Amino acid sequence: MCYNSRMEPESLFARPVAELVGRRYSCRSFDGRGLEAETLAGLERFAAGLALPFGSHLRFGIIDNLRVRAQNLFSAGSYGMIKGARFYLVALVRREDPRRWEDAGFALEAAVLQATCLDVASCWIGGVFDRKRFGWALGIRPGEQLPAVVALGRPALRPSLRDRLVRWSARGDRRRDAGTLFFAGDWRLPLRLEASAPWGRVLECVRLGPSASNKQPWRLIRLGGAFHFYLDRDRTYSAMMPLADLQRIDMGIAMCHFQYSAAEMGLQGEWAVVEPSIPQTPSHFEYIASFMTE
Ligand SMILES: Cc1cc2nc3c(=O)[nH]c(=O)nc-3n(C[C@H](O)[C@H](O)[C@H](O)COP(=O)(O)O)c2cc1C
Repeated sequence: MCYNSRMEPESLFARPVAELVGRRYSCRSFDGRGLEAETLAGLERFAAGLALPFGSHLRFGIIDNLRVRAQNLFSAGSYGMIKGARFYLVALVRREDPRRWEDAGFALEAAVLQATCLDVASCWIGGVFDRKRFGWALGIRPGEQLPAVVALGRPALRPSLRDRLVRWSARGDRRRDAGTLFFAGDWRLPLRLEASAPWGRVLECVRLGPSASNKQPWRLIRLGGAFHFYLDRDRTYSAMMPLADLQRIDMGIAMCHFQYSAAEMGLQGEWAVVEPSIPQTPSHFEYIASFMTE
C-alpha cells in the first residue's frame, strides 16, 4: 500500500537539513519576549502546507500563553519545565486517521527545522502540559486529539539551572551509537554509517533527532533498496502516557529527518507500507513504514 508519494521540492529549507538537525536542541529557557506575529504565522502556514507521508488531516494553531492566561501550564512534577515560553505551535489530529501520530511528528518536526532556520529556538512538549486548556484555546472539535506542542521563542542568554538539570537528567546531548539503531538485512548485523554512502548522512540526521525522553526508539533495517522503519516500543513508558502515542510521534520525526535529508541529496524514494518478513524481529518491535528507493 502506497501512501502519499507527493514529496516536497528538493530543498524545502533555506539551509542544509544536516546543519539544521545539528543546530536544533530542546530550549527550555526562553527570553520571555515572544516572537513577531509574522514569524509565527509563517511557521503555522509552513506546517499546514506540508505533504504528509500518510495524508492525515492535521490542523495547526498558535497558542499565546499570555492570552489564554495559563500561568501554570506545567505541573511541578513535569520533567520538562519551560521558562519564559510564550508561544506554542500546536497540531490537532483526527482520531479516525490511523497514522495521525506519525504525521503530527513529521509536520511539527519540519516546522521545528524551519524555526531553527529562522534562528527560532524550540522545545517539543508531549508529556505533562495542560492539554485541556490548550485544546480549548484552539477550539478543539469532537473527534480531535492534541498530540504535542512545540514551544517557540528566542533563547534566554543563559539557560536556567532548571534547564540544565532537565537536560542532564534526560541525557539530552547523548545519542545511541548508529550500530544499535540501523541494521543491514538482519537484526544481528549493524549497518555501518561510514560504509553506507550516500545514506550515511541521511541516517545520521535520523540518529540526531529529538525523541520523547530521549528514548530514540527508531530502528531501521535496510533490505535491498528499502529502508524499513520499526518502533522499538517501551510499553511501560507508553502506558504512562495514554493521551498521545509519543513514540509514534518520534517515528514521524525520524521519517521527517530521513525524507528531507535524502531529498536534498537527490536520493529519490517514496513511503510505502509493505511490512517485510524479517526473521528474529523482536516481538515488541512495531513496523511503521518503508522508504522505497527503487
Ligand atoms: C514527542 C516528544 C515529546 C517531548 N516531550 C517533552 C516534554 O514534555 N518536556 C520536555 O522538557 N522535553 C520534551 N521533549 C524533548 C526531549 O526530552 C528531547 O528531545 C531529548 O531529550 C533530546 O534532547 P535535544 O532535543 O536537546 O536533542 C520531547 C521530545 C519529543 C520528540
